[in-house]
Formats: sequence, structure tokens, C-alpha cells
Amino acid sequence: MNMHGVIFDLDGVIVNTAKFHYKGWKKLADKLGLPFDEEKNEKLKGLSRRDSLLAMLGKDPGEDKAAKWCEEKNAYYLEFVGQIDKSEILPGAMELVREIQKDKGWKQALASSSKNAKLILNKLDLTKYFDAVVDGSETEKAKPDPALFLLAAKKLGLPTDDVVVVEDAESGVAAARAGKMKVIGLGDPKILVGADLVLKDLSQIDLSGIGRLFSKAAASR
Ligand code: BG6
Ligand code: MG
Repeated sequence: MNMHGVIFDLDGVIVNTAKFHYKGWKKLADKLGLPFDEEKNEKLKGLSRRDSLLAMLGKDPGEDKAAKWCEEKNAYYLEFVGQIDKSEILPGAMELVREIQKDKGWKQALASSSKNAKLILNKLDLTKYFDAVVDGSETEKAKPDPALFLLAAKKLGLPTDDVVVVEDAESGVAAARAGKMKVIGLGDPKILVGADLVLKDLSQIDLSGIGRLFSKAAASR
């Protein structure tokens, strides 16, 4: 039996921080007098800070303004997450990461575009559960590029066939597929097209459910 791995995204998968990223972009958009709502924000999920800004503006404002506005959005985000506590951990996440940690046949990694990922993990005392953590500071190529997930699989020492990614973002599902990995989407099946399975949240799956995805993939090979 091969060793298997689960690579989790952070924002919107493990922790309810996607709403704080949205609030940060919304505050900046309001200040700049730009229309911005949750629907527009959906496209930004999973992208790097810089790519999110460009997507929000619909154009490149030039280096100085881009750096200033990215910094501004991050300051808002840090203010919002300043008081974050374990109540923001999403349903089923704690149970699943604990189950994986206990099982000798499985490893788990965290792969997030966010440069704040390690800060959030540390704040919520979650770092200890992961065999590897990859964040936005480790590669210039953010999702939908598969670089973050490929690096996470490499750190786990597992081939891409033996890992499954868990994602809430369209760009994240695309990144996992570009890396030829299986992917579980959390959210709206109409948005997360391409995922092998779409669930509401992690309370709807356990390790045996994830194991069945690998058996199904092996049977179809
Ligand atoms: C992703 C979020 O995880 O990280 C995006 O889904 C966010 O919304 C991106 O923009 C970058 O995060 P940060 O913390 O580096 O600005
Ligand atoms: Mg996410």
C-alpha cells in the first residue's frame, strides 16, 4: 500500500480567513472608488496579492502604486485577523487533520498563496499538524500555476498520483489539475468545475472517503 498525502489550501479550507481577504480588498476598492462585491471577489480567491490587485483593477497601475496598494490591503487584512481565534477554524478541518496525523499511511501539507499563511497557522496553533508548509513567499508562480502544490508534494516526498488537493478557489482547482493531482473542491460545484468531488465543507468527508478517491483513480488507470 502506497503512502498517500493530502495537500490543504488554507484560506477558505482550514480557516475562515477568505472573508477577511475580501474585506481587505473591499476596503481598498471603496477607497479607490471602484465597484467591488463578493461575486468579483470569487475570481480573486487563491491568487497572489499582486495578481489579486491586478484582477481587481483590471489593469496594471505601475510598480509604485501596485506596491503601495498591496501594502495597504495587507495592513487591512492584518488588522482584521489580529483578533482571530480557533472559532474561525472551518467545520471538519480539525477532525480531519487530527485523523491524518494519527494515520501512519498518510501525510499532510499546507500549500497557500498567502504570505501570511505561517502567521495564521502559528496563531491558531495548527503548524504542528503539517509535515510540510509551502506559502506564497516560496515561489513567484502563484495559483493557477501548479508550483505551490508541486513543491508541497515534493516536500512530502510523494508523487503527484499519490496526493489529493483540497481547495475552495477556482484558481486552486485549476492549479491542482495542472499539476495532475486529484482535487476535492469545497464550495459551489458550478464554480469549482474540474474538481473530482465537490463538498460543502470538510465535515462531509473523512479519511476513508478520501481513500476511496485514490481507489477509484487506481481502478480507472
Ligand atoms: C490566498 C487567498 O490564499 O492568498 C487570496 O485565497 C489572497 O485571497 C492570497 O489574496 C494572498 O494572500 P496574502 O496574505 O499574501 O496577501
Ligand atoms: Mg482558499
